[in-house]
Amino acid sequence: MKIQPAQNLLGTINLPGDKSISHRAALFSALAVGETRIENFATSADCASTLSCLEQLGVRVKRDGSNITIRGAGKTGFQKSADPLDCGNSGTTMRLLAGILAGQRFDSVLVGDESLSKRPMRRVIEPLTEMNAALEATDNHAPLKVFGRNPLRAISFEPQVASAQVKSCVLLAGLNADGRTSVLEKTPTRDHTERMLRWFGVPIDEDETENGRLISVSGDAVLTARDLLVPSDVSSAAFFLVAAACLKDSELVLPNVGLNPTRNAIVEVLKDFGAEIEILNEKEIAGEPLGDLRVSGGKLESKAASNILRGKIIANLIDEIPILAVFGTQIEGGIEIREAAELRVKESDRIKSVVENLRKMNAEVEEFEDGLRVGKSALKGARVDSFGDHRIAMAFAVAALFASGETEISDAESAAVSFPAFFETLQAVAQ
Ligand code: S3P
Repeated sequence: MKIQPAQNLLGTINLPGDKSISHRAALFSALAVGETRIENFATSADCASTLSCLEQLGVRVKRDGSNITIRGAGKTGFQKSADPLDCGNSGTTMRLLAGILAGQRFDSVLVGDESLSKRPMRRVIEPLTEMNAALEATDNHAPLKVFGRNPLRAISFEPQVASAQVKSCVLLAGLNADGRTSVLEKTPTRDHTERMLRWFGVPIDEDETENGRLISVSGDAVLTARDLLVPSDVSSAAFFLVAAACLKDSELVLPNVGLNPTRNAIVEVLKDFGAEIEILNEKEIAGEPLGDLRVSGGKLESKAASNILRGKIIANLIDEIPILAVFGTQIEGGIEIREAAELRVKESDRIKSVVENLRKMNAEVEEFEDGLRVGKSALKGARVDSFGDHRIAMAFAVAALFASGETEISDAESAAVSFPAFFETLQAVAQ
């Protein structure tokens, strides 16, 4: 994929449905009693993996563009799949499905692509084993065999990593356990699971304790089908927010973007660094807040107290760090990201991927074990690599808009994992 520098970005973009929320919409509808219609379901390859795994488990799925209808199987109504369940590139599919399958009365095998097969699964194997399911993996990596058991043992779990996937996996297993299962979160992570389980009628307790947030669910809860609309993906919006904020005279409108407070730090951080972003028509649909974002370009006067991002905010913008690093090349004082070692176990080692590509584009950048620092830099077009990682492909397409000369991104098709129409959309608004 070859990208030319741009003057500005103009127009209105309808972004795909949120990936995290779409996975949950599909999985929870499958666990529910009755039929759920989901509007604006993500077009992402990852969410297609979730749907096809559900079909392999005997769940009836009807597709009509981005409208999906799912006939729920109930909490234990899935059928054993003859073949391994292919989660593709999707960590969310594998980890959340593991939690659901642990409580079924049959065995399953979860497989993934080369990247997913390298990602850590111990974080879900440990709690599910404590709940009395048996799991087998090769050195804690997929293929992951789940020997289901029902009921599971209810546990109180304290994850060692701040991960919404781990939290959700344990809570989903808790729906098939013999009592109350709780997760103590020291660092808040995205709370789509809690919000959507409530939408489906499941009572979820959330208590703020001195050690963190305690979230619990009871094994006798029942999910009842209920239609929902998925907001547009704020993580996909991030690429366009950064591009438009940095290119003078840009004016972009992004309607109906999800603004969940556990996901919207990207908007706040960009505003702190001087980006002009207005939020219009705020509302709540199916338990999730959303609004239209209007971003205007070129007036970056920072109000930020520090150019270092670390601590609890990292979990809130974990998927936006590649594009924030690119943003760092355009602002006074650059950006430093720390306490973000989780980036090393995403779809690629995102610290290494970002550092290597930024260096190729002439940026001043320093790598740390837990993050990176990038200074304001005059980017030059170069040949960069997506490392098979959708967010790296899209972040460097935006970097290319700011560079002098042409940039070539290899394996750019990986963008389809979250945003299949990304390059067409960029082309349509870039002048
Ligand atoms: C996700 C949680 C995050 C995020 C991923 C989606 C989710 O992962 O990076 O893209 O939908 O729960 P972790 O929970 O592993 O941090």
